Amino acid sequence: MSPQLRPALSWAWALLLALGPLGLEAGAYRDPDPNFREDYFEQLLDHFNFERFGNKTFLQRFLISDKFWKRGEGPLFFYTGNEGDVWFFANNSRFILELAMQQEALVVFAEHRYYGKSLPFGEQSTQRGHTELLTVEQALADFARLLRSLQQDFKARDVPAITFGGSYGGMLSAYMRMKYPHLVAGALAASAPVVSVAGLSDSHQFFRDLSVIFENQSPECAQGVRDAFRQIKDLFLQGAYEEVSREFGTCQLVTDWKSLAQLFGFARNAFVMLAMLNYPYPTDFTGHLPANPVQVGCKRLLSETHRIRGLQALAGLLYNSSGTEPCYNIYQQYQACADATGCGLGPDAKAWDYQACTEMNLAFSSNNRTDIFPDLQFTEDLRQQYCQETWGVCPRRDWLLTNFGGADLRAASNIIFSNGDLDPWAGGGIRSNLSASVLAITIHGGAHHLDLRASHPEDPMSVREARKLEATVIHKWVTAARHKQQLQQERKGGSEAEGRTPT
Ligand SMILES: *[C@@H]1O[C@H](CO)[C@@H](O)[C@H](O)[C@H]1NC(C)=O
Ligand SMILES: *[C@@H]1O[C@H](CO)[C@@H](O)[C@H](O)[C@H]1NC(C)=O
Ligand SMILES: *[C@@H]1O[C@H](CO)[C@@H](O)[C@H](O)[C@H]1NC(C)=O
Ligand SMILES: *[C@@H]1O[C@H](CO)[C@@H](O)[C@H](O)[C@H]1NC(C)=O
Ligand SMILES: *[C@@H]1O[C@H](CO)[C@@H](O)[C@H](O)[C@H]1NC(C)=O
Repeated sequence: MSPQLRPALSWAWALLLALGPLGLEAGAYRDPDPNFREDYFEQLLDHFNFERFGNKTFLQRFLISDKFWKRGEGPLFFYTGNEGDVWFFANNSRFILELAMQQEALVVFAEHRYYGKSLPFGEQSTQRGHTELLTVEQALADFARLLRSLQQDFKARDVPAITFGGSYGGMLSAYMRMKYPHLVAGALAASAPVVSVAGLSDSHQFFRDLSVIFENQSPECAQGVRDAFRQIKDLFLQGAYEEVSREFGTCQLVTDWKSLAQLFGFARNAFVMLAMLNYPYPTDFTGHLPANPVQVGCKRLLSETHRIRGLQALAGLLYNSSGTEPCYNIYQQYQACADATGCGLGPDAKAWDYQACTEMNLAFSSNNRTDIFPDLQFTEDLRQQYCQETWGVCPRRDWLLTNFGGADLRAASNIIFSNGDLDPWAGGGIRSNLSASVLAITIHGGAHHLDLRASHPEDPMSVREARKLEATVIHKWVTAARHKQQLQQERKGGSEAEGRTPT
């Protein structure tokens, strides 16, 4: 990914590049090198209409490794790619490889259409007028076709498949099990906000929960944040534009309400990213985040006597990790979009913006009452207006709920929803066990899908235990699926035998 920060549901991935840590947990696994082979699959453009695009296809990218696979026994682990380059997910979900090594699985990471290199209409794909085939349903159908085709190619038609995913990818992984249970034996959905994105949370949930994270870090920190934002607003109201720019370090002068909102959005976004990436060890991407970035950010904020300078220093963890930014370009480094938690930058961000304008409800507001951030409203009306102007579409607020059931997943089976209690997305996910096989795991001290990352010596006990439970449950699903197949085969054999003996 370019030297751009991609915040948002997506984002995270972008930044989190692990240190490639060796998972040296008590005799556990080394970081396994999967030797992925990168390949492309000829995918139908449109699964749901036989006329407009007919048989036309595009190339969908995927990564595959059979290095750990025990043919005839091991399952297939299938990562349902989300809003970005599939290599990010592969690089940042090394737990799946550790598990594949242990359970002798074939591993596939599939790229989501319209992201990375899986572009239905080439470079133009994310331009207005070319986005009509970007839906959750099309993406799931892509995965289903790819999965079936791989099973045929590998002469592994009966290999039980388990889907994996984090964040939006976690949603897709759960949906795969719900929509294609004949293809998928179970799903691990890490930090998947299936509830909020279906439009079921109140619009202040995200920034309220985000504020609690900083409040819990230290009440002084939360107060410092409030003070910094208040001081910026006060200076602005006094017309002290140059002082705002100097103290916070912006390249541009902020002289009207619209640019003030841009500055606030830019700054607020730093908190989103620090919280999501609040891992107990440093992570690297284009930038570099230290271990426990929330704690480090708060320390930075409070170490400056001048609060606005403190806020500048905190934001620098994200926007100036190179230490070479002379000033913040608040328009270039952050772009407001239909996802109030950030879309990032570049073509992937545009695709995500479109998804936030159609099926995904991400219209969260902050209000300076139930949270520590400035009053930045993003109502359903504003969303509609933005989406109409930007993409010529009108969001369908209820569709995900109608299509997948939101929080009402009692009828589903074999899904694990894991969430870290340090993650601002957790409040939008499934937090309690819904049935004997739709399970919720809470990872105390865990940020955004920490469990999918490689084992690390600094991992809290809770994530080690979560991974163990995940491994056990997944193994159980695979065994049960194998057992069911055997029964079916025996029955088939039995009835064939009966057929030969006319009665
Ligand atoms: C679509 O593909 C099928 C199978 O390959 C082929 O038989 C058929 O002729 C194709 N139809 C068109 C309109 O290209
Ligand atoms: C993924 O990891 C590989 C190997 O370390 C690296 O070469 C590549 O740049 C990474 N790709 C992304 C998108 O993170
Ligand atoms: C937040 O609310 C407080 C109390 O009403 C107010 O003094 C302050 O100016 C507000 N902050 C911002 C950034 O609007
Ligand atoms: C970025 O970091 C450098 C080095 O610490 C500092 O001199 C510069 O002022 C920072 N830029 C901003 C916008 O804070
Ligand atoms: C759900 O059930 C699992 C397995 O029995 C248990 O470990 C877990 O703590 C339960 N989750 C919640 C949120 O109670």
